[in-house]
Amino acid sequence: MTSSKIERITVKASGVYDVLVGRGLLSECGSYVKEVSQAEKIGLITDDNVNALYGDAVQKSLESAGFSVCKFVFPHGEQSKNTDTLVKIWNFLCENSFSRSDCLAALGGGVTGDMTGFAAATYLRGMDFVQIPTTLLAQVDSSVGGKTAVDLAGGKNLVGSFKQPKLVLCDIDALDTLPDEFFTDGMGEVVKHGMIKSAKLFELLEKYDLKSLRENKDVLEDVIARNIAIKRDVVQADEFDTGERMKLNFGHTLGHSIEQYYNYTGITHGQAVAAGMKMITDIAEKHMLAEKGTCERLTKCLDGYGLNVSVEPTPEQLGSACLNDKKRFGDTINVIVCCDVGASMIKKMPVESFFAMLSEASE
Ligand code: GLY
Repeated sequence: MTSSKIERITVKASGVYDVLVGRGLLSECGSYVKEVSQAEKIGLITDDNVNALYGDAVQKSLESAGFSVCKFVFPHGEQSKNTDTLVKIWNFLCENSFSRSDCLAALGGGVTGDMTGFAAATYLRGMDFVQIPTTLLAQVDSSVGGKTAVDLAGGKNLVGSFKQPKLVLCDIDALDTLPDEFFTDGMGEVVKHGMIKSAKLFELLEKYDLKSLRENKDVLEDVIARNIAIKRDVVQADEFDTGERMKLNFGHTLGHSIEQYYNYTGITHGQAVAAGMKMITDIAEKHMLAEKGTCERLTKCLDGYGLNVSVEPTPEQLGSACLNDKKRFGDTINVIVCCDVGASMIKKMPVESFFAMLSEASE
């Protein structure tokens, strides 16, 4: 369908670019990409699932705008986000004689966006790329802010760089084909944004649940635009993740340990982050760092979006895995705490004190 209203959110970081939120953007993407790129050729990078759904429409739109398109399709899933696929993308660009003035387009979820961004950051020492995210998680989080990466056997996102895209196109209609499980996964980050930065967004989320939010596209569009604006503000304040941006890690330190405990199977990132947010907020309340009732509100809101898993490991069991957290610096760790709905702080504490808090919470 043709877009009626398009929200334009401008990100002013090391690169300045627009994030467009609206309906029907996929089939009109060529003209939007034309506004930001002089490229002759577009390297369209996508996975097999997304290619089957939207590959042809996007290619057609890019070609109608005058681009020549070479498409690279890889098997869907986190297991593809590695150096093997990255090398294949580099070789594909080389075989198709891509130059530095050409452009890549990431069509898909976070795996596609992160990996395409890293290929764009590194091929010929850097070329342009645009993000066309098709999952909720990628629209509200990973496509905005310029974090690009691939995984190593030893952990997720261990090799990467900061590289801002030239444009992000968030087509709300693309979420129609997203299974509930993946929508719920993205809601973890949506609720997180409300918790760390916006009581208003959180209050809006409290009025809906998974079904009613998916059904109400105008509200969904508003929720997505608000999330992107929050992410934009955080990235503009701290593009390179040395301060304010760490707040986006709320629930993630314990969440990553939970994912690791389950060996990244049987639990989604959103479920693990939800459990991590609840654990740390419960601990914060017990230590008078958060208003009483914050954890209850958070839990209720998460429940409504299907993020109600209870996890096996105790906080104490999760402690040692937190040592690998990117927010740890030597003997101190930055713990993100929400003192209330919509209000967060970075609490720098000795790793030992963090461990003590976790073991106390496990008693
Ligand atoms: N997803 C966390 C960040 O962009 O910093």
